[in-house]
Amino acid sequence: MKLKVGVFGTGHLGKFHLNNWKEIPDAELIGFYDPDDKIAKEVEHLYKLKRFSTPEALIEKVDAADIVAPTNHHFALCELAIRKGKHVFVEKPLANTLEEGRKLIAMIREANVKVQVGHVERFNPAFIAAKNFTLNPMFIEVHRLAQFNPRGTEVSVILDLMIHDLDIILSIVKSDVKHISASGVGVLTDTPDIANVRIEFNNGCVANLTASRISMKKMRKMRLFQKDAYVGIDFLEKKTEIIKMKEDSDKDSFSFDIDTPKGEKKTIAIANPKIQDANAIKEELIAFVNAVKNNKPVAVSEIDGYLAMEVAHKILAKIENTGIAGA
Ligand SMILES: NC(=O)c1ccc[n+]([C@@H]2O[C@H](COP(=O)([O-])OP(=O)(O)OC[C@H]3O[C@@H](n4cnc5c(N)ncnc54)[C@H](O)[C@@H]3O)[C@@H](O)[C@H]2O)c1
Repeated sequence: MKLKVGVFGTGHLGKFHLNNWKEIPDAELIGFYDPDDKIAKEVEHLYKLKRFSTPEALIEKVDAADIVAPTNHHFALCELAIRKGKHVFVEKPLANTLEEGRKLIAMIREANVKVQVGHVERFNPAFIAAKNFTLNPMFIEVHRLAQFNPRGTEVSVILDLMIHDLDIILSIVKSDVKHISASGVGVLTDTPDIANVRIEFNNGCVANLTASRISMKKMRKMRLFQKDAYVGIDFLEKKTEIIKMKEDSDKDSFSFDIDTPKGEKKTIAIANPKIQDANAIKEELIAFVNAVKNNKPVAVSEIDGYLAMEVAHKILAKIENTGIAGA
């Protein structure tokens, strides 16, 4: 049986979701809800899809809600779906406030439904290639830069962009956050548009993150430094580079010899793992459908979504304390 899906919010990202749902054999797109008449007309025309006049009417007809509305509407739409016992795919961040996040976690437990959060970078083929290598970083450097776009500015750059990297880092570093320092500036909006953050973990790992939505150029790079290797992940260009001591199994890598200060000969290998071409949005939606169909854990749970939000809000509190930008 196909999973009956309704899409809530058909703006910029919602249309990508619609395109992908149409290509997923185990899902049946039932209709959409969007309060904006102009956008709804366009979607009706382009996708030949039924528009529902209220979110309540659509939720009655589906098994799962795909929530792609602005972040400040995530809680109300999730609540509506979960209270009706429907599964939910909700775009990142899970919710706007931590209180909303906690309420959703309690509701999900009670309703016993599957909820997956749209932390799509987990499905980025460059990250998947990096994960094939054992990641145990002690130092992480991240740059996520974007040109200004009014979309997403209902929340700060931390909840809009940096949250992607917070989720990825929390999925790699298996240790609690010990300390956060942060600085941010609101340039075009009332909340931070650019921020730099240092997160120290209990295991000694330090992550230094920069996120900006007021840059001239786009960049989405994460560099991981660990005892035995450097791993570079380019989320935008979908490239991964691993530099490490050469082992016999490293067949396809470029290598060169160096002399260590102790006079030992070592061989350094530089590898660019083959990246599987993949549509990360489609992959995350397929993973959600499979989790529901097979009653298996989702790839990115509401707890994962909440933990990333929790760090994001600690960062915002630090920035607010500096008095530079509101949070
Ligand atoms: N995973 C990612 O990489 C990624 C990228 C972009 C956006 N997002 C997330 O997706 C969400 C939407 O972003 P967007 O860029 O598509 O925004 P958008 O402004 O282009 O689209 C939002 C749409 O939601 C509609 N809407 C408003 N209130 C609604 C409601 N109560 N119910 C249903 N629809 C409603 C709007 O009319 C609009 O059409 C945000 O939460 C954002 O954080 C995630």
